[in-house]
Amino acid sequence: MESYWSTTCTPATFEPLDSDMSVDVTIIGGGMVGITTAALLKEHGLTVAVVEARRVGQGVSGKATAKVTTQHGIKYRTIAEKFGEEGARAYAHAQGAGVDLICDLARAHGIDCDLEEKAAFVYATEGEHGNKIKAEVELARKIGLPASLSQDTGLPFDVHQAMRWDRQYQFHPVKFIAGLAARIADERCRIFEQTRAHNWSPTSVTTKNGTITSKHVVMATNLPLGQVGLYYAMNYPKAEPVIVAPIENPPPHYYLHAGSPGRSLRTHTSGGRTFAIAVGEHFHPGHPETIKNSFDELSHWLEQHFDVGDAEHQWVNEDYSPMDGMPFVGWSSAIGNGYLVATGFDAWGFSNGGAAAIMLRDLIAEQENPWFDFFSATRIKPLAGGKKFVHENMHVARHIVNDYTSSKPQSYEEVGSGEAAILSIDGDDVAAFRDDDGSLHAVSAACPHMGCLVGWNPTDRTWDCPCHGSRFGFRGEVLHGPAVENLAEKVR
Ligand SMILES: Cc1cc2nc3c(=O)[nH]c(=O)nc-3n(C[C@H](O)[C@H](O)[C@H](O)COP(=O)(O)OP(=O)(O)OC[C@H]3O[C@@H](n4cnc5c(N)ncnc54)[C@H](O)[C@@H]3O)c2cc1C
Ligand code: FES
Repeated sequence: MESYWSTTCTPATFEPLDSDMSVDVTIIGGGMVGITTAALLKEHGLTVAVVEARRVGQGVSGKATAKVTTQHGIKYRTIAEKFGEEGARAYAHAQGAGVDLICDLARAHGIDCDLEEKAAFVYATEGEHGNKIKAEVELARKIGLPASLSQDTGLPFDVHQAMRWDRQYQFHPVKFIAGLAARIADERCRIFEQTRAHNWSPTSVTTKNGTITSKHVVMATNLPLGQVGLYYAMNYPKAEPVIVAPIENPPPHYYLHAGSPGRSLRTHTSGGRTFAIAVGEHFHPGHPETIKNSFDELSHWLEQHFDVGDAEHQWVNEDYSPMDGMPFVGWSSAIGNGYLVATGFDAWGFSNGGAAAIMLRDLIAEQENPWFDFFSATRIKPLAGGKKFVHENMHVARHIVNDYTSSKPQSYEEVGSGEAAILSIDGDDVAAFRDDDGSLHAVSAACPHMGCLVGWNPTDRTWDCPCHGSRFGFRGEVLHGPAVENLAEKVR
């Protein structure tokens, strides 16, 4: 289903690339990172081209909750454990700069993106997480963040402990990103939609109808494409259910549950109606039962605590969590000739995306930046991410073996209307979906990235890869990387 944000905004469109060209910097991906980086590079006097495979601002960014905040749950303690207090301080400064950048760009360019100041609350419903909140507040205050303990949350239920951060923001992500793109686009900053990068080198990007050559290439594709930097092995995909429903008793701030199950809530008013935008417990993509349960539980929670109507939009969104908690921003290679990358935002990609744009601009402009070392995209910290690293890569290995060896139905007849299944047809694994009209759509079930078998997502009617999070439409078209090719159509 289309996200609420895409249906409440009609952004300007950009023509696809139709010839070869040359600029200072090519950016692959027109999301939060790609467009804010383009804005900063243009301001710095460089010529830029952005190639966006689909529509600007409607990838992961256009399906988020869109809190613009330095408050990231119990993140600062986690970072301090792995990178020391200096690491937590650098992360905090970077996030603060990312939030300020969004507010400054919105004001400077007059972008009407429903930017609103809010207080950000994180609450605990039991003791263990209450203690974590206390420790987080202590550290946050030490490194200059606006945190305090407060149980006056405005929520319609009691909490065990909560922290409040003032002067945080929320916005409409598509209005901001597409609005910024429309303001910066000109002869020195070219933006191309419906233009997928099929091939790349550190100085060129090839699309169906043209190649762009440049001094640098920025991969702002949420996760770098294909095998670049092997970031798919250092980040794991985190999928989350999102529900949008009209609400009669909107709470005044925005909220995050400190423990499990994950619960995030904000509101947005459009056309005189106020909606709750809620996110539930994360899961590995491509497991239909888990997806269904996650939506059911989130819907139940909303109905239990708030006066909400029927859900009007629901979708699954995915972001990447880095093994050691810190995003990867910078050069993909320590020995030159690399790409510029930004990934691993752990579902906090607006403040992090702004911070990444600042760092990418500074790297290209050969300017110093105090955050480089902590965010370094070539850092090797096996101990910091050790257990998680092993666990997630075991998950991938298990999938590859189990999915290929499990027994599967062997006939298209087994798939009813509105149903999907992985079939074994003449020895091939086939992902089959029969639509409501009874037409069958059959594509290869092997993800073109590295061969894992995809799994059905009944909410979005997509095939999602459990290994590194690539997503495909039911006709096989690639929607989200690291894969760049479609699932091959099966001739029946
Ligand atoms: C459920 C959920 C809720 C979230 N809520 C928040 C929140 O409240 N606050 C917050 O800070 N963060 C939030 N996030 C995280 C945030 O949305 C992301 O981290 C951020 O939007 C990532 O931006 P991006 O530019 O890296 O990726 P994207 O927005 O996905 O942009 C990448 C772009 O690259 C394009 N692309 C991909 N491949 C190619 C190719 N081959 N050629 C050309 N273009 C290509 C895509 O089409 C896409 O438009 C949330 C995440 C999730 C999953
Ligand atoms: S995304 Fe890597 S195998 Fe599918």
